[in-house]
Amino acid sequence: MKNKIIVTGGCGYIGSHTAIELIDNNFEVVILDDLSNATEETIIRIGKITGTTPTFIKVDLKDAAATLKVFADHKDAVGVIHFAAHKAVGESVQKPLLYYKNNFYSLLNTLEAQSKYEINNFIFSSSATVYGTPDTLPITEDNKTQRPFSPYGNTKKVAEEILQDFTQAKHDFSAISLRYFNPIGAHDSGDIGELPNGIPNNLMPYITQTAAGVREKLKVFGNDYPTKDGTPIRDYIHVVDLAKAHVIALQRLLNKKHEQPLEFFNLGTGVGYSVLDVIHSFESVTNLKLNYEITDRRDGDVPQLYASTDLAKEKLGWVAEKELNDMISSSWNWEKNLRNNTN
Ligand code: WQD
Repeated sequence: MKNKIIVTGGCGYIGSHTAIELIDNNFEVVILDDLSNATEETIIRIGKITGTTPTFIKVDLKDAAATLKVFADHKDAVGVIHFAAHKAVGESVQKPLLYYKNNFYSLLNTLEAQSKYEINNFIFSSSATVYGTPDTLPITEDNKTQRPFSPYGNTKKVAEEILQDFTQAKHDFSAISLRYFNPIGAHDSGDIGELPNGIPNNLMPYITQTAAGVREKLKVFGNDYPTKDGTPIRDYIHVVDLAKAHVIALQRLLNKKHEQPLEFFNLGTGVGYSVLDVIHSFESVTNLKLNYEITDRRDGDVPQLYASTDLAKEKLGWVAEKELNDMISSSWNWEKNLRNNTN
């Protein structure tokens, strides 16, 4: 008998890569997604890559009754990995209520349904944004969290607080919150990857779309930060490494190896690269010249953010294996496939 796992937001970027790793590790996967920022085609592609097509249910987790119904049909699940959320930082500043409503209703309805059916293991998709502007680097998990710059970021911080309260109140319920640094890259097959909605907010999809001729020019948001070349430093991590960490975290809960009802882990490589580092690596990996210009800073950007990876290594036995060049070549491979399929 395979253990059944519910993956909310499983048609999305990180969810779909995680579904693959779960299937490869012999889990039965049920994907819930409202397809608001993803396509059902991803289910077929997961099937093509793994040889097993996951169960898919289109459901809006903001709808409590609909959520309960789906969970009733899958009450034999042993855990949930919760990705479903809106994630565009800029849009969240424009439409805070949309973000608070979507990200909290879906979280609360999922937890309520889990509570009702005693599905007591939960992995949460969090973000390094909960650290705000860190005082010390690399960032360890015991750093205090700060109010993030954006409503999106705040939904992650408050969600962790909700989980803290919930795991304290419900003694048989355990959760792990995974704080992602900057996920980029795509599956080696080139069949799944990030599908940004409209103009990308994030660096890597903007770079690949510029190189593909979809965008004219990349704007580098500021070169007057206190860093080696003046551009901000981030900890980019390959999405497949990230996906693997979810499976390991889940196994930790299922095997009752966790030490607290709610644990937090950074998922990063521990290595920081500047925006110009990424651009130059992209140019050398692809042999292309990227059209870019330096512009003003973007609101809310911090100069440097990179993870301490010690805790994930010690407790999960997980370290990121892929390097920046792998991240770049797989992102570019995915972008090229996308363009070939849509032209
Ligand atoms: C990286 C660097 C930009 C675009 C955000 C969220 C975070 C998480 C990941 C998850 C920065 C620079 C970017 C561009 C640029 N979200 N940049 N030109 O801001 O570190 O993190 O994504 O869902 O919560 O805040 O990532 O990729 O947007 O930016 O110069 O067109 O690239 O200024 O220094 P960020 P990013």
